Amino acid sequence: MNILVTGGMGYIGSHTCVELLQAGHTPIILDNLYNSNLAVLDNIAEITGKTPVFVQGDIRCRETLDGLFAQHKIDAVIHFAALKAVAESVQKPLEYYDCNVTGTLVLLQAMQAAGCNTLVFSSSATVYGSENQVPFCEDMPVGTATNPYGSTKIMMERILQDMAVANPDWKISLLRYFNPVGAHPSGKLGEDPNGIPNNLMPIICRVAQGKMEELLITGNDYDTPDGTGVRDYIHVVDLALGHLKALDKVVQTPGCSIHNLGTGKGLSVLELVQAFEKASGITLPRRFAPRRPGDIAESYANVDRAARELGWQAKHSSAEEICQDVWRFLTKSNKR
Ligand code: NAD
Ligand code: UFG
Repeated sequence: MNILVTGGMGYIGSHTCVELLQAGHTPIILDNLYNSNLAVLDNIAEITGKTPVFVQGDIRCRETLDGLFAQHKIDAVIHFAALKAVAESVQKPLEYYDCNVTGTLVLLQAMQAAGCNTLVFSSSATVYGSENQVPFCEDMPVGTATNPYGSTKIMMERILQDMAVANPDWKISLLRYFNPVGAHPSGKLGEDPNGIPNNLMPIICRVAQGKMEELLITGNDYDTPDGTGVRDYIHVVDLALGHLKALDKVVQTPGCSIHNLGTGKGLSVLELVQAFEKASGITLPRRFAPRRPGDIAESYANVDRAARELGWQAKHSSAEEICQDVWRFLTKSNKR
């Protein structure tokens, strides 16, 4: 299939393009390189032996999208492109609503005009909010967002569900990711955000590289086994493979489906830090700090529906494999 991959140069998108190419699909990447760089294209080519079509452009540009749909016979869209930094979204709400919500609306309008009605969408466990109890299940009510980033994901899910009601021939898959981590086992692709990282694993990497002085463990007084926050860390290769399964399913399923992509198990900050120290042989300077505003104690998925309906489950997401792959990426790609 010819797949338009928005945000395909980014962390999850690039890993998904590798799996698409290896499965015989043809990804066509649209990315404005806001949070990625051109080297990713060479790295995808080195891994797969194939260079995907890449267009540098913005999802908010209707002309660019119309050109892509006119030039390629696009069978489906995987829509990763978004701004994703929670704290930044509080400072810059307009930029987040514009990129994420306006961007999705323009994409949908272009799809509709081109007669392309199959979409896989990057949603997030953030939509469960703080009201629901773990493990989070797809049929729980959506919670309340504590930041504009989370609000954009809730709004986009809603827009896509409304689209499916209004257009019964549309096929939409909402994938709720838990905490994506890890790197490609080749060491050629991984998470390398532009600017100051927000998430635990990229921060661990910066501390290991000596680019940040210490890791602040934000909260050790949660009601969890060791007092630190518990998350469902999912290897990015597992996540990428989940998109291929979702794609296979969605092309034959009109309507809008929702699936959690996680492991079903929680890991604490301390457990992840210890696994990283073991994989790297580095002791990370760290200390406990107050809780981050808006954080919840625990987040992990019920993954029954993805197993049952998509035939997908995480296979590479042990803390050991995740940390070994991240460490290989840091060392092999001279990111240290
Ligand atoms: P990323 O920042 O690495 O990748 C996003 C890509 O989209 C980047 O290459 C960026 O340059 C591009 N982009 C951003 N705005 C664009 C625009 N207007 N037009 C064209 N390209 C644009 O992020 P990621 O971690 O790969 O996340 C991918 C998707 O998954 C996002 O929608 C994100 O919200 C969602 N998600 C991520 C996480 C996570 O922790 N990484 C968790 C849940 C959901
Ligand atoms: N943490 C630290 N120190 C840090 C950063 C994080 O101890 O410097 C802790 C957090 O308190 C949390 C855990 O590490 O317990 C994970 O934090 P992340 O920021 O890596 O991930 P979150 O679960 O907070 O957020 C992620 C995505 C969001 C998404 C959310 C819910 O970044 O986009 O999952 O799916 F909304």
